[in-house]
Amino acid sequence: MATDGRSLRERLEEIRQRGISAIRSAADRDAVEQARVEYLGRSGQISQALSELRDLPVEEKPATGQTGNQVKQALETTLELRLSEIEAAAAASAPSSSIDLTLPGRRQWRGGVHPVTRVIDEVCEIFREIGFTVASGPEIESDWHNFTALNIPLDHPAADMHDTFYLADDRLLRTHTSPVQARVMLTHEPPIRVLAPGLCFRRDPWDPSHAPAFEQIEGLAVDEGIDFIEFRSAIDFFVQQFFGTGTRTRFRPSYFPFTEPSAEVDVTCFLCDGSGCPTCKGTGWVEIMGSGMVNPAVFEAVGYDAEKYTGYAFGMGPGRIAMLKYRVPDIRLLYESDVSFLEQFD
Ligand code: DAH
Repeated sequence: MATDGRSLRERLEEIRQRGISAIRSAADRDAVEQARVEYLGRSGQISQALSELRDLPVEEKPATGQTGNQVKQALETTLELRLSEIEAAAAASAPSSSIDLTLPGRRQWRGGVHPVTRVIDEVCEIFREIGFTVASGPEIESDWHNFTALNIPLDHPAADMHDTFYLADDRLLRTHTSPVQARVMLTHEPPIRVLAPGLCFRRDPWDPSHAPAFEQIEGLAVDEGIDFIEFRSAIDFFVQQFFGTGTRTRFRPSYFPFTEPSAEVDVTCFLCDGSGCPTCKGTGWVEIMGSGMVNPAVFEAVGYDAEKYTGYAFGMGPGRIAMLKYRVPDIRLLYESDVSFLEQFD
């Protein structure tokens, strides 16, 4: 290196100034690294200058050596400072990266009303308009309430051991909501107009059209002078409201021990409007409930004057109605809590 007659200390000072300005003007990390190699590297300018120390007269060595160390330190400090400046600038200008606080959150499904519950709510709401209130009864019943009071002899097929789940002491899981009829009549005097929605149980298989636990909605009206006309108009009012005006109703003779006469109620298929489709199996009609005029034997069982009172009763399956209405092909979907299915009923 050309010395131009300047002392080693003077040249070290010059290196300090050049080094500092080189580092300060470095635009990025690579440029800083280049300056580091150039000035502080093993064969950089400082090392080269200090290699001349040994040729100096002994008395100059300590002071010059000290200057060398100070220059080294000053460059190192400048270098660190410059690196952190570059780093901070990079962070500030990065595309305001991973967190965007203005982005709306992903909406999660918060739950909805189950299709069967919807049907139950709607049915209760419609009957409320014609004076019905809602009652409930226990799912664990006595065989008296479930069968005997309803004029079902214990040797009737419906009372067969295999038809339900028996518990100890004449207790069983109710096979229908009809026992609520007996419970309401035992505790209330006419006039009575109640609906009783609730779960029922049977020893049925678990397949596309059966479930061992399922809902029913019971209906009961008892008063003086209730006749078949009132019964038909109440059902018709419900059908028009629930399935739409213009829906026709058909009463088919049937048999239930607790009603006399008994009828199955059919409505014109609400999917094909009666012209015939897979849902109504081409008949144009779908069955929606069992019903009838309350059998006087039931009034006697609960201590009502069967000469004074008449009434009508009906029982429908809201699960079945939900399947028809929402075209659910398999009853198990109603009970499996499969969110991808339930999400459709938001
Ligand atoms: N309890 C009957 C069943 O589970 C349904 C039923 C039919 C209820 C006729 C009634 C009725 O109240 O009058 O199959």
